[in-house]
Amino acid sequence: MAIDGPSGSGKSSTAKGVASARDLWYLDTGAMYRAMTWWMQHHGVDADDAAAVAEAAGRPDISMGTDPAAPTVHVDGRDVAREIRTQQVTAGVSAVSAVPAVRERLVAMQRETIALARSRAAGIVVEGRDITTVVAPDAQVKIYLTASAEARAHRRSGELSGSDIDAVQADLARRDLLDSSRADSPLTQTADALELETTGLGLDEVVAILLELTDRAVAAA
Ligand code: DC
Repeated sequence: MAIDGPSGSGKSSTAKGVASARDLWYLDTGAMYRAMTWWMQHHGVDADDAAAVAEAAGRPDISMGTDPAAPTVHVDGRDVAREIRTQQVTAGVSAVSAVPAVRERLVAMQRETIALARSRAAGIVVEGRDITTVVAPDAQVKIYLTASAEARAHRRSGELSGSDIDAVQADLARRDLLDSSRADSPLTQTADALELETTGLGLDEVVAILLELTDRAVAAA
């Protein structure tokens, strides 16, 4: 299953809920771009210096755990699950993820993880911005999640450390613009991805809808 959508649309919680309920693997690709950004900042590479980011893009050793009940993120062996959610990383991640060398490397890792799941006869739920378009356009189920700007800001302010709601909403608007206007693999909604507007829906309701779609796709395969 491929899930795309803007920040705070509920992708991560929904994807984890679906994967847990159906015993599938789970991959949060946004966490991989955050891990790459964390490494750049930790090593003094300016996130806005695209040439420097491109040159360093091959250096971090990023490893993702795919258990939806306990997804893990390690960079060079260090658990960075909390550190990648700080405002500092959030502020730098759109610039880093617009660098083609970064995308090339992370998309290759994402496809390797999908191939590994297939080789073990496991299903996988992958969420991000370019999963339905670039990473896995052949996924059995393709979803585009949306929600109003206010709902997304409220969801995100609960997830990120040390944030206030107005700042979160302004930051989401800034990142939406950058993520959907960049040259390489921008966030886009394709005609064959099913749009699900989640404003006003609870997590359980969204997960239930996606589970039904998953079961139908599997029955039809
Ligand atoms: O989902 P998130 O907010 O954790 O993602 C962080 C950033 O990573 C987001 O601003 C855009 C980028 N991203 C991307 O470019 N491609 C993806 N597949 C996933 C995330």
